[in-house]
Amino acid sequence: MTEKKDILRLTAPLSWLDGVDPETGVVTQPGHPQFGQSVAGRVVRMPHSVGSTVGAYGLFKLARHGTAPREIILERPDSVTISAELVGIPVRVLGSAEAPELEVDAEVPEEFVRFLQREASLAGAEGYVRVRSVHISGVSYTTIGEAGLEFLEGLAERGVKVRVLSTSNPAGMDLSRWRDMGVPESFAEKQIRIVNALKRMGVLPTLTCTPYLVGNHPAPGEHVCWGESSAVAFANSVLGARTNREGSVKAIVAAVAGLTPAYGMHSEENRRPTVLVDVDKELEDTTEFSLLGYLVGELYPHAVPLLKGVRNASIDEMKALGAGGAASGSIELFHIEGITPEHHLEPADGAARLSIGKEDLREVEDRLNTTGSSPDLVTLGCPHLSLSEIWHTWSLLRGRRASVPFWLFTARTTLSQLPRDLVRELESAGVKLYADTCMVVAPLREMGFSVVATNSAKAAKYLRTLGKLEVILMPVEELVEKFTVPAG
Ligand code: F3S
Repeated sequence: MTEKKDILRLTAPLSWLDGVDPETGVVTQPGHPQFGQSVAGRVVRMPHSVGSTVGAYGLFKLARHGTAPREIILERPDSVTISAELVGIPVRVLGSAEAPELEVDAEVPEEFVRFLQREASLAGAEGYVRVRSVHISGVSYTTIGEAGLEFLEGLAERGVKVRVLSTSNPAGMDLSRWRDMGVPESFAEKQIRIVNALKRMGVLPTLTCTPYLVGNHPAPGEHVCWGESSAVAFANSVLGARTNREGSVKAIVAAVAGLTPAYGMHSEENRRPTVLVDVDKELEDTTEFSLLGYLVGELYPHAVPLLKGVRNASIDEMKALGAGGAASGSIELFHIEGITPEHHLEPADGAARLSIGKEDLREVEDRLNTTGSSPDLVTLGCPHLSLSEIWHTWSLLRGRRASVPFWLFTARTTLSQLPRDLVRELESAGVKLYADTCMVVAPLREMGFSVVATNSAKAAKYLRTLGKLEVILMPVEELVEKFTVPAG
């Protein structure tokens, strides 16, 4: 019989990436009601996970340190947490049913078939859908550590191959300029092994969280299986594709099998709005969009919000909005009235109502700012910068020079499309353009930084919780104004 003290009931969702200390199993997620309690060796009942899809490797780390839960009981299925089964942690979902039959050919490892059947059964899936593409998160050594490296090298060693277009998330460093970034040699060696293992499996080394900007661009209604929570929100909301928020490990399983259990966002019924949000403020920049997403994700972590009152939203602004909601919550899909492709879907019965104004956004911004001191690094590019964002930054910087290290992060493909003159001008203004990585998954602390400025609510959250850094959050215009000086 399980004693009461062996059961830990989490009354709020938890991030397995940065909400639990892998060495002790103690809940460290700021503001979590069970902060300070341990999951180690206990039966953990929880609503679902939130935040990064790389949380799957957080569970691997707990297992490696002997601090994992004995069993996890989910109140709603999520593939990030269900990945725990791959390291021997049993998962149950309340009210789950029998697994539908799954037929795949012999090249799919047996444990992957078992995992997909188990997920289908836990999630109450009606069957399986073939996926057009996969996006794999959990590529940086910072986030996946030895547990992830061993897992990926083990698969590559066995000759496991993906069978659908599979792109990959940022690594912990720019693969060409890591020495220039100041990344330690020991880190670089592990990072290169991770990327090589993925390449041996057939995964494209796109190393970006914006796969939709570099050729992995699903059509409306197409079923895909994506990790990287910000890309999931973009694929569902802006492209009208269909994907759940997939755990990094699960995405690999689906890439190898070419299919995924059909539940959640794969069904139109679950794509209807569950929260109607009146936005009582004209949003002025991508930072405000990211703050809006972040606040909705905090208040309704698993909602499908329909935002009303947003007059216009560019691709870059929607990219920032989705990243915010997926960082504080686990928002997979949002609608913007009159703008996104499925905004016309009838709201679900009993949909909640919410009103958000200027003061609400200011309050979140204040909370995410942890210091009033000066940054030792300014960063832009969470999610990775698009061509238009780089262009906009360049126009703000004309005639100015960075007064502290000023780094921009983008996809290598995006970088290769920029005119060489523009890159040279930025670099001579003291602004570095790095590809393949970002401010959150690069080992900034080990590289000597302690106060980092950004314009993204998602980056602000993870720089603090994962990077253990002090954070300054403000729009790009202010970052340029404050941390550059007139040139010459
Ligand atoms: Fe992308 Fe890194 Fe942000 S992976 S969404 S830039 S945390």
